[in-house]
Amino acid sequence: MADYDTVGTDILIIGSGAAGLRAAIAAHDAGAKNIIVLGKCRRGDAHTVLATGGINAALGTMDPRDSWKVHAADTLKEGWFIADYRAVETLCRNAPDAVNELVRWGARFHKEKDGRLTQRFFGAHTYRRTCFYGDQTGKEIMRVLVKEVGKRKIRFLEDMFVFSLIKSGSEIRGAATIDFKSGRAVVFEAKAVVLATGGYSKLYSRSSSRGYENHGDGAALAFDAGVSLVDLEMVQFHPTGMVYPKRALGVLVTEAVRGEGGILLNSRGERFMKKYDSARMELGPRDEVARSIYSEIKAGNGTKHGGVYLDITSLTKAKILDRLPKMYHQFKTLAHIDITKERMEVAPTAHYTMGGIDVSLNGETEINGLYAVGEAVGQIHGANRLGGNSLLETIVYGKIVGESAVDTARNTQGAGLSRSDVEPALDYLNSLTGKGASPEGMRARLQEIMWKRVGLVRNEKELRAALVEIRKLKKEFFRVRVAGGLKGNGRMRVALETAKMIELCEAVVMSAMMRRESRGAHFRSDYPEVRDSWRVNILARKGKSSISLTKKGVPTVSGELRQSIKAAKERAAHKLLE
Ligand code: FUM
Repeated sequence: MADYDTVGTDILIIGSGAAGLRAAIAAHDAGAKNIIVLGKCRRGDAHTVLATGGINAALGTMDPRDSWKVHAADTLKEGWFIADYRAVETLCRNAPDAVNELVRWGARFHKEKDGRLTQRFFGAHTYRRTCFYGDQTGKEIMRVLVKEVGKRKIRFLEDMFVFSLIKSGSEIRGAATIDFKSGRAVVFEAKAVVLATGGYSKLYSRSSSRGYENHGDGAALAFDAGVSLVDLEMVQFHPTGMVYPKRALGVLVTEAVRGEGGILLNSRGERFMKKYDSARMELGPRDEVARSIYSEIKAGNGTKHGGVYLDITSLTKAKILDRLPKMYHQFKTLAHIDITKERMEVAPTAHYTMGGIDVSLNGETEINGLYAVGEAVGQIHGANRLGGNSLLETIVYGKIVGESAVDTARNTQGAGLSRSDVEPALDYLNSLTGKGASPEGMRARLQEIMWKRVGLVRNEKELRAALVEIRKLKKEFFRVRVAGGLKGNGRMRVALETAKMIELCEAVVMSAMMRRESRGAHFRSDYPEVRDSWRVNILARKGKSSISLTKKGVPTVSGELRQSIKAAKERAAHKLLE
């Protein structure tokens, strides 16, 4: 067994994006003294910084008729009614307080001349309810949260990679990690552990995430520990990612471009959204806009680089620089395009995962003391997430989960870990050390399989082929070894991530095969209809030698939301690709 250091703490937060930081702040403010946040990246540089367009709250600053109920109804309807309405209610009810708190902490969200927060349109929202800081809202929120964490002197460790959770029976006990700065294995003993590790959109070769994030680390850790994952087939393809140059493939082009008036055109110059959703046009829900773009490209109406055009040239340069400065610079530097004068070329990119860890309403998993929050969890967005709801989720649920973790820590004795508790994890790490096949090529192959066969449009034949190829890779993975010590060893991180990704891909594909219908982001060309019998969640569970799937009923909406849902359903135009 490898040598290791041991560190004790009350609350261990794995992940240092907005969800993790908000949970840390809440835990501190609820009285926890000993909190450690582990980041795979550098402080302040988690994936949240890429969240561009905004954060939702029914503040009614621009459209006074907005309310949390309309927000919740929009969220449930566009999630195709498989989200847990109780979780959605919590999200939307708490949104105004969450956004106002960020403002009190210094978030510089855009304001009207009279001091009201400006709210912009995002796709499929009934009213304008997205607050923003230009098109760098996530970065601004991170700036504020990092500052608040710093004020509270919460311990923060960078370059840490968690490769196994440690539990005893149904209690969480801690986590085994690598500190890539020192090159040491470190075992954290904790009374409560929070997984705030992001989603799994980087299982795809074309994604809006960077190379070192959103590999599904948290979901895979929980899966390994025996926790169920839910609705893994629900992967959101954002309609607009960059298509060239090659190094920019998949980079996000914010929905705010369309929210500010951008239009989509095919290579014939037709505003094609008229054909697909003449009422909402470019501001339809993401699943529908992404499929419309896909259809245009498939029909031969794509651009030279395999996309469609996104045109914002109707806006003045001053307005573009005020509302979309990041997009302006992104296209200038990466594609040498001046978006104030020229059209952008865009196509769908894997952006977000609605599926994830199955948790209770306060974020606890079926393992006592193990929590999850943010994109790592499932069931809040159903089959399709509304833009602007993910930043919101990190803040609202970060607070709830942080406070709940404190309750757990207070009521837990916390016995020390023995060598035998940590042995299996460290033996696994040892087994990867030495000379053998490198993991990078396998990871690239895996991501390509997912993009080609488990993408925006799926069918039985492709899914089956994907499963065969993934299982073949799983067998091959046993040849992977990483030489050299652990210090700064990026290849070891890739190997550990890839092992987890393979398993997660298998579960995603199996879930996609099981759901024989089309709902939200999950579109099956062989089952193109929405089916009432499939208004269920799919749970995936890891057994000793295989993964099993079961269906779970979606809670029936009751209480104040019932009426709003009814109105939303009447508004719904359930139109999928023919
Ligand atoms: O397009 C965007 O700015 C993305 C926002 C979101 O995913 O919430």
